[in-house]
Amino acid sequence: MVFKKLIFTTAILAIALSASAVADKTKNPSAPSSPIHPPSPVYHVDLAVLLNVAGPFQTFLNYLQKTNVIETFQSQANNTKAGGITILVPRDSAFAALKKKKKRTLGRLSKRGQLKSLLLYHAFRKFYSLGEFSKLSRRNPVATFAGSRYTLNVTNDIGTIWVKSAWSNAKIGSTVYATAPVAVYEVDKVLLPKQIFRSE
Ligand SMILES: *[C@@H]1O[C@H](CO)[C@@H](O)[C@H](O)[C@H]1NC(C)=O
Ligand SMILES: *[C@@H]1O[C@H](CO)[C@@H](O)[C@H](O)[C@H]1NC(C)=O
Repeated sequence: MVFKKLIFTTAILAIALSASAVADKTKNPSAPSSPIHPPSPVYHVDLAVLLNVAGPFQTFLNYLQKTNVIETFQSQANNTKAGGITILVPRDSAFAALKKKKKRTLGRLSKRGQLKSLLLYHAFRKFYSLGEFSKLSRRNPVATFAGSRYTLNVTNDIGTIWVKSAWSNAKIGSTVYATAPVAVYEVDKVLLPKQIFRSE
């Protein structure tokens, strides 16, 4: 765990360093350019690495990798002109806490496109800072990455943000990462859309 934290800190530091290098460049546009390889002005967040070192988000990450949804998320994260991405990541304990019937339904999804929809349901095709996120509550229902039919309702209850689906009301916990164009927040429940989880 300490080791993981160290890698994470190093990764953040590397990002911070490349970001400040960019900032220096923009501050001194007339400065002579370095004869040695200049740092790339575009840095990207590797979502798989991020989810692997933060968390425990292993269950969600395994599903993302198994379905290749990780690639969908990563290409949205890479494309700075696409508006960014916000991902709501359930902790491993949220998957473990699912009721038996829900777990069974989830287990049966693996061979169908619905598993992809469930994962895409945990993201928005836009970068939202926590502040912007609380304003979303005025635009309910909010479409997710899974499409306009797969919506979530956002509520802001004295600074605590909740995301409500048909069968769950999840609380947004800590910020895993939030630098445009990528935001990743932890949620305490798996988000269960009515299109997939039809009954209790
Ligand atoms: C995202 O960008 C990185 C760095 O440029 C690249 O290595 C990776 O293949 C890209 N991934 C996707 C899915 O576009
Ligand atoms: C979400 O909000 C809309 C608009 O306020 C409401 O009609 C709908 O019933 C809500 N859905 C859920 C699951 O709470």
